[in-house]
Amino acid sequence: GGYERTQRTLIGCIKESLESAVRDKFSDYLETVDITECANPSLGDYQCSSAMQIFSALRKAGETDFCNPREVAAVIVDGISDTTTFDSITIAGAGFINFKLSDHFILTRLRELGKTVKPTSSGESGSVLVDFSSPNIAKEMHVGHLRSTIIGDALCNVFEFCGLKTIRLNHVGDWGTQFGMLIQFMTDNKVSPDSAVSDLQECYKRAKERFDQDDDFKSQSKQAVIKLQSYDADALRTWKQICDASRAEFQTIYDRLNISIIERGESYYNDMIPAVLDELVAKNVVVEDAGALCIFDDDHAEAPVICRKSDGGFNYASTDLAAIRHRALEEKVDRIIYVTDQGQQKHFRAIFKTAHAAGWGHGGVVFEHVGFGVVLGEDGKRLRTRSGETVKLKSLLDEAEERCLQFLKEKGTDLSAEELSTASRILGVSSVKYADLHNNRLTAYTFSFDRMLDLKGNTAMYLQYSHARVATILRKAPTLDLPLDGLHFENAAERLLAVHLIKLDDVLAATMKELAPSKICDYLYTLCTMFNNFYAECKVIGGENEASRLFLCMRTAATMKIAFSLLGMEPLERL
Ligand code: ARG
Repeated sequence: GGYERTQRTLIGCIKESLESAVRDKFSDYLETVDITECANPSLGDYQCSSAMQIFSALRKAGETDFCNPREVAAVIVDGISDTTTFDSITIAGAGFINFKLSDHFILTRLRELGKTVKPTSSGESGSVLVDFSSPNIAKEMHVGHLRSTIIGDALCNVFEFCGLKTIRLNHVGDWGTQFGMLIQFMTDNKVSPDSAVSDLQECYKRAKERFDQDDDFKSQSKQAVIKLQSYDADALRTWKQICDASRAEFQTIYDRLNISIIERGESYYNDMIPAVLDELVAKNVVVEDAGALCIFDDDHAEAPVICRKSDGGFNYASTDLAAIRHRALEEKVDRIIYVTDQGQQKHFRAIFKTAHAAGWGHGGVVFEHVGFGVVLGEDGKRLRTRSGETVKLKSLLDEAEERCLQFLKEKGTDLSAEELSTASRILGVSSVKYADLHNNRLTAYTFSFDRMLDLKGNTAMYLQYSHARVATILRKAPTLDLPLDGLHFENAAERLLAVHLIKLDDVLAATMKELAPSKICDYLYTLCTMFNNFYAECKVIGGENEASRLFLCMRTAATMKIAFSLLGMEPLERL
């Protein structure tokens, strides 16, 4: 896939100059070339440590006249012919090469960025399919699904923004033996199939209890499953009504979160399963063990993943095998991504391994599991309500919005009542999303309204206030005369902000590679702090260097808007 192309990123640009010098002088060591951001901006913007690696490799091979890595660094620096990108290239410490970008280069790049809202790395070729959200019918969506929904949506936004063809799939749990007991229970108790999900969930719980205690009910339920699986008209009708009721409720959450996704639930793959399992048996990539069809890990260290039960029934893994085959061979995408909690890692490892063994990934399809940690309550345990129930998403969003409204009222604002309610809705949703996204997705995170809504913390609240600040400046600003000649920096805060602004492409490339939306969060948070520093130090309207500063504000606002929208958050114009 094209997602790894980075030559147009900032790091890619610098790497190119560096590589051509290394190619000339140390052609065997091209792969040592690496670039990182300078931790200390007074040394430069970027840093390379290749000279040390080249020196020790040469010495190991016993073929060097160099006395130390600094001498190697000097030869590399000497070979860099690019004179416009850098203001200075210096050697520091044991042999680090530090690059300081020239103001001319920074401003040119900034102006290029200003011409289009697309990143320079857009126009990527390739396609990606993201399986995310994926709640289960007749059950409430829980915080795990919320994480999957938010993370999956952010990843899709990034792919789409960079020009990749992106398929967003909702692998809803809408099929399986649980529907037998549900339909049976509802028929027995005359529960209407278009009940609210909370009622369905209650039925589900009680049906399960009866199933475990009452043998008659158990055998009736099994009959009901058989009817459903043979597409009996009555059973199908009830099933469909149950699904519709859940679907409508899921949709209210998606609407509130502004998520678009295509539903393609487990039932979609049901008819494909027998042939897919036959193919896997014929190819010898799944094995029969005690009557069940199994996928073992390489060293048989753990219990196998079962993909056909010993009674011949299909399960979660059977469906995922049919689904992955369909996605790789019919959808023909380059990259297939699954966003679920980390607890399903073993399941997906087995599915991917089997898909590869069956040859379904032969066109170079990449399969990836984007796992995430659990959401903890402030007591350090899995997030639950006081009565021990799973927390409903609706009440979570309601509370976030309510608290935002209180916050705004207490802080004092000029917003009208209507603006206030819109602002608190937007703030509430973006706070919940950002609180989730800014963590490393693999670590469990603690859900805390107080922390999430802290104006001084790394929160959506802080970001929204920063955006509203720059938007307010621009509303009051005179229009800039274009083309912009004579732009320049007078102050270190201006330059730092500008350098950060031109790093967006690099961040997008890294996000797509590592599937980590937290990178966009870090970028946006740093952008806001840099902007706030700049604004504290530099008078914009009516100040010296007004045109350059206004230009920086414009680029800042536009870049913030991009980052907000990639994270699925709506930026507020005033607060
Ligand atoms: N419905 C599943 C759950 O709630 C998640 C499905 C994830 N996607 C998949 N293709 N298995 O845990």
